[in-house]
Amino acid sequence: MKNVLGKNIARLRKEKKLTQEALAAQLRVSFQAISKWETGQSYPDIELLPQITDILETNIDALLGHVPGDAQKTIYHNLYEQEAFYWGLQPSELCYEVLKRYPPNGHVRLLEVGCGEGRDALFFARNGYEVTAFDIAQAGVDKVRWLSDKFNIYIRAFRADMMEYRLEEDYDIVYSSRSLHHIRQELRSEVMEDYKAHTREQGIHALNVYVDKPFIAPSPEYDEFAFLWTSGELFSYYADWQLEQINEEIYPCTSSGVPHHHAINTLLARKPGKRQGEMQKEGL
Ligand SMILES: C[S@@+](CC[C@H](N)C(=O)[O-])C[C@H]1O[C@@H](n2cnc3c(N)ncnc32)[C@H](O)[C@@H]1O
Repeated sequence: MKNVLGKNIARLRKEKKLTQEALAAQLRVSFQAISKWETGQSYPDIELLPQITDILETNIDALLGHVPGDAQKTIYHNLYEQEAFYWGLQPSELCYEVLKRYPPNGHVRLLEVGCGEGRDALFFARNGYEVTAFDIAQAGVDKVRWLSDKFNIYIRAFRADMMEYRLEEDYDIVYSSRSLHHIRQELRSEVMEDYKAHTREQGIHALNVYVDKPFIAPSPEYDEFAFLWTSGELFSYYADWQLEQINEEIYPCTSSGVPHHHAINTLLARKPGKRQGEMQKEGL
């Protein structure tokens, strides 16, 4: 979790419209110190953390990207604690699109955001992708690790909150199925920019999100930390990428045992540029 602290300081400072100089003045440090924290060249003195969290109106856990054990940010933790797999082990349809559009030739690094109990991460790892996956529900992450052991494959799985966690490494594929509605609207632009910036050239994003439709009743699993997207909102973040597939559909669902419907927007988009292998061939 290298430099999560620095990235969070930078993000929250900008949200509060504070310059590095203004934050430095309040903390009685130099603005160069702030710049070094934000770029990961140094860390703030531990004694400054309470003051930093007061000014940035956050808490130390959030600043460090740590999800405390008692955080009740999802209804899924309890569901995943049952022995059965709540979402089953059948991969989502979107996985097959990824396989078609970016097959795992060579080392293809895939990040899954909001992986739940790991059905899609399992599919990708078994097909030869190098998978990193995170979810806020510890019980889900435990199941992903259990699947890793059972199928003798490696999935790097960890617990993180997508609203706080920012990427530190680059990926070929960023994948998320039915999870990004857990990002509050005001954070989405920044989170999507972070995911885009940490994607290699010619890499893809395969994402779907629940969207709000006035004629669809709230899901029985609806929780207070779920924030539906508006129709088309997801696509709007990808004007500078090549859109390979975008669509909206309404599908029936029986999770939780209560029949209901979801409206969902799906996007497959490719980052412009040259893939690493091509650059090597051209001696770049
Ligand atoms: C509808 S489930 C989908 C799970 C998985 N993608 C699948 O299709 O099986 C939404 C997932 O988002 C996770 N989640 C909710 N809030 C989150 C957050 N703030 N950060 C990371 N994951 C979160 C939940 O724990 C849950 O596993």
